[in-house]
Amino acid sequence: MTFKDLNEVAVNTLPVLIAVGLAGALVSFGAMAQDAAPAQTTQVAAVYTQEQAMRGAGQYRAQCAQCHGAELQGDVGPALTGGDLAGWGTAAGVYEYYSVNMPPQAPGRLGDKIYTDILAFMLQRQGLPAGDTELPEGDLEAFEAISLAEGQGTAAQ
Ligand code: HEC
Repeated sequence: MTFKDLNEVAVNTLPVLIAVGLAGALVSFGAMAQDAAPAQTTQVAAVYTQEQAMRGAGQYRAQCAQCHGAELQGDVGPALTGGDLAGWGTAAGVYEYYSVNMPPQAPGRLGDKIYTDILAFMLQRQGLPAGDTELPEGDLEAFEAISLAEGQGTAAQ
C-alpha cells in the first residue's frame, strides 16, 4: 500500500466509522430510554386518596415531625422516606411497627384512623400515586400488598 492508498482508505472509511459510531450511540440511547421506561409505565396501584394523605400530613406534623423531621428526613428518630422507608418492605411492616410503638409519649394510642392517614401521607411522599379509594383503616392484609419500593422517593418535595 502506498501512502495515497492509505489515505483513500481513511477517507472512505471515515464516514462509515462515523455512521457506525452514531448508530452505536443511538442504540445505547435507545437502551437507556428503555431502561428508564418501566419506572414511568409500570402501573403502581393507587391505594390512597389525596385527601387522606392531606389529613395524614396534618397528623404527621402534629404527632411525628418534631422527631422525624418536617420532610421525613429524620432527626431524633430515623428518616421515614426513600430507601429508609423502603427497607421495611411493605406498608404492613412499617405500619405494624409505628402503630404499636409511636409516638413514644403515647405508643399505639392514636387509633387506626389516624395511623392509616399517616400511612397515606408516607406513601404519597414515597412516590406512590393517589387514587379514588382510601386505604382501609388498619387493614394489615391490604397493607401487605403495598410495596414501599414502588416509585421510591419520586414525590419527595
Ligand atoms: C419523641 C420523638 C418521636 C416522636 C414524636 C415520634 N417518633 Fe417515631 N421514632 C422515634 C425514635 C427515637 C425512633 C427510633 C426508635 C428505636 O430505634 O427504638 C423512632 C422510630 C420510628 C419508626 C421506625 C423507623 C426505623 O427505620 O427504624 C417509625 C416508622 C416511626 N418512628 C414512625 C413514627 C410516626 C408515624 C410518628 C407519629 C405518629 C412518630 N414516629 C413519632 C422518635 C419519635
